[in-house]
Amino acid sequence: MIVVSTVDELRRARHTLASPLGFIPTMGFLHAGHLGLVRVAREQNPSVAVSIFVNPTQFGPNEDFASYPRDLDRDLHLLAEAGVDLVFTPSVEEIYPPGFSTFVDVGPIAERLEGKSRPGHFRGVATVVARLFNLFQPQRAYFGQKDGQQCVVVKKLTTELGFPIDIVVVPTVREPDGLALSSRNVYLTPVERVAARVLSASLRSARVAFQKGERSGEELRRLIQSQIEREPLAKLDYVSVADAMTLEEVDRIEGPVMVSLAVRIGRARLIDNEILG
Ligand code: PAJ
Repeated sequence: MIVVSTVDELRRARHTLASPLGFIPTMGFLHAGHLGLVRVAREQNPSVAVSIFVNPTQFGPNEDFASYPRDLDRDLHLLAEAGVDLVFTPSVEEIYPPGFSTFVDVGPIAERLEGKSRPGHFRGVATVVARLFNLFQPQRAYFGQKDGQQCVVVKKLTTELGFPIDIVVVPTVREPDGLALSSRNVYLTPVERVAARVLSASLRSARVAFQKGERSGEELRRLIQSQIEREPLAKLDYVSVADAMTLEEVDRIEGPVMVSLAVRIGRARLIDNEILG
């Protein structure tokens, strides 16, 4: 496995890899969710590359950029075991040299849901993803359904900026009790960890109601909200039943919708989603 940390080294290493290249951008502190993306990429491509970069531009001023969990040695060990060919671990200055001022803004879909709670978040995500796509020039790139809105944003910027890259969305990897794996789960105390089950449990209730014929967006939002309110450690940030493409809230479910929520539990802000219909 080749490990590089500068753009020049990356360019040189990239030329040695067979095509098609499958690329997985990450912020490190890897878990089975990330490794699931690597596994799918490994099955579909002769070469697989991963970036590990905690991207400052997607964190708000009061968010956890400084304390975001990091363990590069462990990450590299896991990626070598998973059969990755190339890993890029740049510094902030390598990605954003002094004076950097070009940003990618995908418009209204970036201002809803996570974008509303975290202004500027998707501008940071879209900018770093576009920068990494240009550096790696992959044929396929892999993203987790766990970050459902991020998948929509990345697909849109890929189409509209004309990157010749297939975006592959991989299902969410969960703990046995349903909690979606996340690097931020380490912030949970043992009691909060038990309470965190409420996110996936409430999505499950919404799915059951949908399967029984419920088609009102408002009813599903209410159902999820009432379950979150019954968990004393959980504080609901938002719940949404939105068109899966435009992310606009829907009254009546007629096509695919993304049911999503964000919840604060202790220090952690957790998100989860499910596609219905
Ligand atoms: P990060 O949170 O490290 O996640 C990297 C990729 O792993 C994302 O595509 C995310 O959706 C996926 N992922 C995380 N948890 C998952 C789970 N439980 N199941 C399946 N996939 C999961 O997302 C980011 O980093 C950043 O925003 C990034 C795209 C790297 C841009 O900085």
